[in-house]
Amino acid sequence: MALWGGRFQGGSSDMFRQVNDSLPFDQHLASQDIRGSIIWSRAIAKAGVLTESEQQQLEQALNGLLAKAEAGELDFAGSNEEDIHSFVEAALTEQLGDIGRKLHTGRSRNDQVATDFRLWVREHCQQLQQDLRQLKAALVKSAERHQHVILPGYTHLQRAQPVRYPHWCLAYVEMFKRDISRMGDLLVRMNQCPLGSGALAGTVYAIDRQEIAQQLGFDSPCLNSLDAVSDRDYVLELLFCASTSMMHLSRMAEDMIFFNSGEAGFLRLGDNVTSGSSLMPQKKNPDALELIRGKCGRVFGSLQGLLVTMKGLPLAYNKDMQEDKEGAFDAVNQWHICLMIACEVIDSVELNSDRCAQAAREGYANATELADYLVGKGVPFRTAHDISGQVVLAALAQGKAIEELSLEDMQKHSALIGEDVYPVLQLEYLVDKRNILGGTGKDPVFMALKRELAAIADEQC
Ligand code: ARG
Repeated sequence: MALWGGRFQGGSSDMFRQVNDSLPFDQHLASQDIRGSIIWSRAIAKAGVLTESEQQQLEQALNGLLAKAEAGELDFAGSNEEDIHSFVEAALTEQLGDIGRKLHTGRSRNDQVATDFRLWVREHCQQLQQDLRQLKAALVKSAERHQHVILPGYTHLQRAQPVRYPHWCLAYVEMFKRDISRMGDLLVRMNQCPLGSGALAGTVYAIDRQEIAQQLGFDSPCLNSLDAVSDRDYVLELLFCASTSMMHLSRMAEDMIFFNSGEAGFLRLGDNVTSGSSLMPQKKNPDALELIRGKCGRVFGSLQGLLVTMKGLPLAYNKDMQEDKEGAFDAVNQWHICLMIACEVIDSVELNSDRCAQAAREGYANATELADYLVGKGVPFRTAHDISGQVVLAALAQGKAIEELSLEDMQKHSALIGEDVYPVLQLEYLVDKRNILGGTGKDPVFMALKRELAAIADEQC
């Protein structure tokens, strides 16, 4: 039965029910709704609305519902209720009669749903931080397994300078660390409790808002009832966190799709995360990675959708805001799935270290080294850059790498080039010369790897 039937004479149309009912999706807030109701029943009992025995009966019934919700045993499909709030109230009334009908005293679905959703956002933030830590660990372990592999680094998708494979892995680790901390910021900012704000103006009952906030794990109550029931910036922030992190995941996926291509051939993906073609028997496609990239569309769309929904709403609650949920549920679910499959992909990676090194040697990735070598001999960098470019041109004309040119050929461009240039042009040399903090040299990379290994060991205990 609707929670608001009294002033209506006619019933809702079927089409209205279809557009208005939210139980098909807000059932995902069942456990938060019930937990909020337990705390609310205690608060109104303290305010003298319920006797001790009534409160105990309510709490017991609510605990029973909570157990069922957590076991996935609530029968939403068989219910004709409008939303999760009326579903819970109807279940209580069925068990307890009038006592169930007392629970909503002093409360509105507006402060109730805002509280439920904040609890949901908080719990999912914590879950997703955990997922991100798991992915971080997968990357760090992959870096450790393949610590000696060197592959080309790119700018403009042109081979630029070689980098160590762990350096590539740890670049994404840095991004995922920021994703975790971004949610940490959100968790601090959002952790205020709307309950007690009523429909929009507060409640007449003597509710201890500090106490209910604390019992629901919030740092404090929301300070303004209009704001408490009508803003959804915490959902937007979560969707921004999801979008940014999906963007990071998608870039990682894109790198790996390319590394896995026949043209690059740097890595192979496991059978567990790839699929074949119905026509071409030889194909092994990086579907998991493509889907990570592809799912960004709907996650970014949820952020955009909610921003547009919210932008023109007058204070305080408007039913438009019911549209805050499906996009957020979907985005968070897709993000979780992508993080988990990314872990499996990373675990499955096998690197072809010879192919990586060969590609890193090709493409004149050591041209900067030649310029720096000349700088070492007193040539201004701009001139050295020019000479090195000419040497590349000469090498290209002969179809050779720079280090395959004879000394004579190189000296045509600068008499300062001597025999000692050859070791400088070697792959390991040019990688390890970048021995600066944050660079791809052996020392900083292995130091970073050690630091991240220690961090994941800490997180796991
Ligand atoms: N299902 C509603 C929502 O998600 C709950 C709040 C309903 N409030 C109201 N005044 N009709 O937004």
